[in-house]
Amino acid sequence: MSTIDLQALIPNNVNLGENRQLQRALEHWQPAFLNWWDEMGPSDFKAKEVYLRTAVGVDASGWASYGYTPMPDYRWGIFLADKEEGRKIGFGDHMGEDVWQDVPGEYRSTFRRLIVTQGDTEPASVEQQRLLGHTAPSLYDLRNLFQVNVEEGRHLWAMVYLLHAHFGRDGREEAEELLMRHSGDADKPRILGTFNEPMDNWLSFFMFTYFTDRDGKFQLKSFAESAFDPLARTTRFMLTEEAHHMFVGETGVGRVIKRTLEVMKELDTDDAATLRQAGVIDLPTIQKFMNFWFTSSLDLFGSEASSNAANYFSNGIKGRPDEAKFADHVEADTEMSIQVPDGKGGLKSETISTRNGMNEITRLEYVKDCNVGVTRWNMAIKRAGVDFELKLPSTRFRRAVGVWAGIPTDPQGNPVTQAEFEAKKDQWLPTAADTGFVKSLMQRVTEPGKMAAWIAPPDRGINANPVDYEYVKL
Ligand SMILES: [Fe+2]
Ligand SMILES: [Fe+2]
Repeated sequence: MSTIDLQALIPNNVNLGENRQLQRALEHWQPAFLNWWDEMGPSDFKAKEVYLRTAVGVDASGWASYGYTPMPDYRWGIFLADKEEGRKIGFGDHMGEDVWQDVPGEYRSTFRRLIVTQGDTEPASVEQQRLLGHTAPSLYDLRNLFQVNVEEGRHLWAMVYLLHAHFGRDGREEAEELLMRHSGDADKPRILGTFNEPMDNWLSFFMFTYFTDRDGKFQLKSFAESAFDPLARTTRFMLTEEAHHMFVGETGVGRVIKRTLEVMKELDTDDAATLRQAGVIDLPTIQKFMNFWFTSSLDLFGSEASSNAANYFSNGIKGRPDEAKFADHVEADTEMSIQVPDGKGGLKSETISTRNGMNEITRLEYVKDCNVGVTRWNMAIKRAGVDFELKLPSTRFRRAVGVWAGIPTDPQGNPVTQAEFEAKKDQWLPTAADTGFVKSLMQRVTEPGKMAAWIAPPDRGINANPVDYEYVKL
């Protein structure tokens, strides 16, 4: 196994010291990154000691060490999963050939664009979340937020390394641009819509880490199959970090639900107004937030039928998540069916080539994965004896990308008229009043082990520490 040189100016396991030119280029980018962190990362808390995990290896067991670190001292660096000797391309037209250690010229601009788009999301989420620390419902949650933030910063490093190491001057310029676009900036926004959505409350944060970080997981899984081996190796290690982000989302939403159920029982009511008055978030509001963040994340997979997606697959650029579990890795002449609007206010099936349907295949795998947590949340609701079921809306609902973009449907995916959509959308999606209410609950709790009234404590702490551990020294 490769070892990580944590003492180097840029911690890495890629023998950076042996490539002086690359090392110098990255050392030149590093201060710009730290500047960006200082300006756009978590506001305040800079000098505070945070109980963080840091990557110290890349093998599955024991890659992390835990300790108190002020965030600006976090050891951001370059960690690739170990090289698999003799690895072959696992799908598409190059199936069975040796993987590439460098980018073939004909795919260079495609890879660059994909890496930049992935890279752009990482700092974007840090920017979106920069003010959340001020309203953290507990020190435990504050620590988790910061852990997610520093790791997204590291994911930016992961993509910037590839840009610097494999894309020459263009890559260096793109790396600089990654620090210049900012979430929600009118002139220079982040590339993808979801990453420009404001994030001013913790319910949205938990939904984001559950749904949007999970989109990240599926993108990374597709890249982990890539014929471009350095991309596959870097995304494999990113996935191990990403898992914690989704854990934060799943347990976060679960704890909000748990607390609501407790108060529903105490007051023996499911009346939303009464529950809100008691300071918890009613289940229909949780459903609306879920509708918003889930659908916004669906768009990130792109159009249902896409010739770009087909090219990525044919050329070995991006596989399907867990490609090995599919029976056919070439899909030369296979077909699949998708649902499209029939132009008369209904829907119809359309047959497309499987290669063209790669985005949709990945999106449907994502939906399955999203449902795992939803099922767990529903089990808690059922156990509490409450007659309510959270449901993911249809993949046709509230889409802004793909064949359903701009076509009004109900959450079940049945096309409706624009007038009907307008009339009902306040029942389906968070209103300004809903968001205002959720925001009104956001008050900072700083005593170790104490939780804000709208969220239950976690079942356990971090790294076998108790829940009332001092996760951030304020
Ligand atoms: Fe990430
Ligand atoms: Fe993440």
